[in-house]
Amino acid sequence: MSRVDLFSPIHKGLRGALFEFATDVARVELSSTHAIDRLVAQVERVLAYLDEHADHEDSHTFVALRGLSPELADELAGDHHALDIVQREVERLAHELALADLARREEAAAKLGVAINHLVAMQLIHMNREETLANEALWTGLGDDALVALRSRLVATIPAARYAEWIQLVGRFTSPVERHLVDNARVG
Ligand SMILES: [Fe+2]
Repeated sequence: MSRVDLFSPIHKGLRGALFEFATDVARVELSSTHAIDRLVAQVERVLAYLDEHADHEDSHTFVALRGLSPELADELAGDHHALDIVQREVERLAHELALADLARREEAAAKLGVAINHLVAMQLIHMNREETLANEALWTGLGDDALVALRSRLVATIPAARYAEWIQLVGRFTSPVERHLVDNARVG
C-alpha cells in the first residue's frame, strides 16, 4: 500500500514549472519587449514558488526529518542554501535581460538560459534525494497519521488565495488521484 508522500506531488508541479521556463527562455522572441517582460515575470513567479517551497520544508518537513536522520536533514537544508545562491543569480540575470537594449538581449538571454539550466539540474537532483532518501526516513520513522498531521500544519500556514495558486500549479502536472489528494490536504 502506498504511503503518504509529502514531496512528490508538489515536486511534479515545481518540475513542470522549471521545465517550462527552461524551454521558454530558449525560444523567447528577443525582438519583443512584451515577450521579454512576460518571461521575466514567469521567472519571478517560479522563483517565488521555489523559495516558498524550501521555506515550507525547512520549517516543517525537515524539522520532523531531523528527529529521525539529522545528517540527512542537514544535507538537504544545505542543498537549499546552495539552491538559493543559484536562484538569486537567475533573478539577477532575468533583471539584466529585462534592462538590456535590443543589441544586448541575445547575450543576456543566453546567460539567463545557462543559469536556469544549472538551476534545473540542481533542483532535479535535490528533489530526487528528498523523494527517495527523505521519504524512506520519514516512512520508517513516522506513520501516515503523523505525516498527514505534518502536512496539515504546513498547509495551514499558507494563505487561502496562495494555496489556490499552488493547487493550480500542481494540478497542471499531476494525475487525477494526486490532484484529489492535494485538493483535500487543506482539510486533511
Ligand atoms: Fe527541498
